[in-house]
Amino acid sequence: MRIDPSELSEATVHQLLKSCVVPRPIAWVSTLGPSGIVNAAPFSCFTFLSTRPPMLGFAIEPKGNGKKDTLVNLERTGDFVVNLATEDLAQAVNASAAPFPADVSELNEVGLAATASESVQAPRIADSPVSMECRVERILELGQSRHRLVIGTVVLVHVGDAYHRDGVIDVAALKPLARLAGDQYGCIREVFDLPRPWVVELGS
Ligand SMILES: Cc1cc2nc3c(=O)[nH]c(=O)nc-3n(C[C@H](O)[C@H](O)[C@H](O)COP(=O)(O)O)c2cc1C
Repeated sequence: MRIDPSELSEATVHQLLKSCVVPRPIAWVSTLGPSGIVNAAPFSCFTFLSTRPPMLGFAIEPKGNGKKDTLVNLERTGDFVVNLATEDLAQAVNASAAPFPADVSELNEVGLAATASESVQAPRIADSPVSMECRVERILELGQSRHRLVIGTVVLVHVGDAYHRDGVIDVAALKPLARLAGDQYGCIREVFDLPRPWVVELGS
């Protein structure tokens, strides 16, 4: 089967590509709204981008002709926090994606707490075991659909002690939640090592 995306509707391309790029990690992004409201929303178009400085990125779809609250907030404040979504937070992560009005905190609605960050205005989600405080590096607008690729520099990483081993996150302990096709989520049930058959240079 060959599929030419230019012959498909935007909605079909959206569903197809999301089902091709699997599993996707979930950035549970917290931002500070006007009048101190803490906004939180999951974004699975998310990845690590660079190391010096450390950068990561996630993509935000437009909201009709307008902008999602996350984009409005991070454009205003210049910062955000990526909190990692885990299996035990799945219900709250999913519930926080509902289109709440800008003056309603998703965290209050799903019964979770925010805690102050150290280097950015956006608070982090207290229940998430790993949070990365980020400053907006740049926002790229993509194509006619006007998705925004938000690139952020990671200025501080918070890791719960139980999830940090030998300088990295203990993925088996973390139990990260993944986004699959459509409404599907996935969990990592097995982690295995396969050493590289070549010498690894620093930074490679
Ligand atoms: C698991 C999951 C992943 C999502 N990933 C994205 C994404 O990558 N980009 C996006 O624009 N919306 C994504 N959404 C939808 C947003 O979370 C949703 O539109 C949310 O209401 C935006 O909130 P905000 O208006 O407070 O920013 C996702 C939803 C879920 C449940």
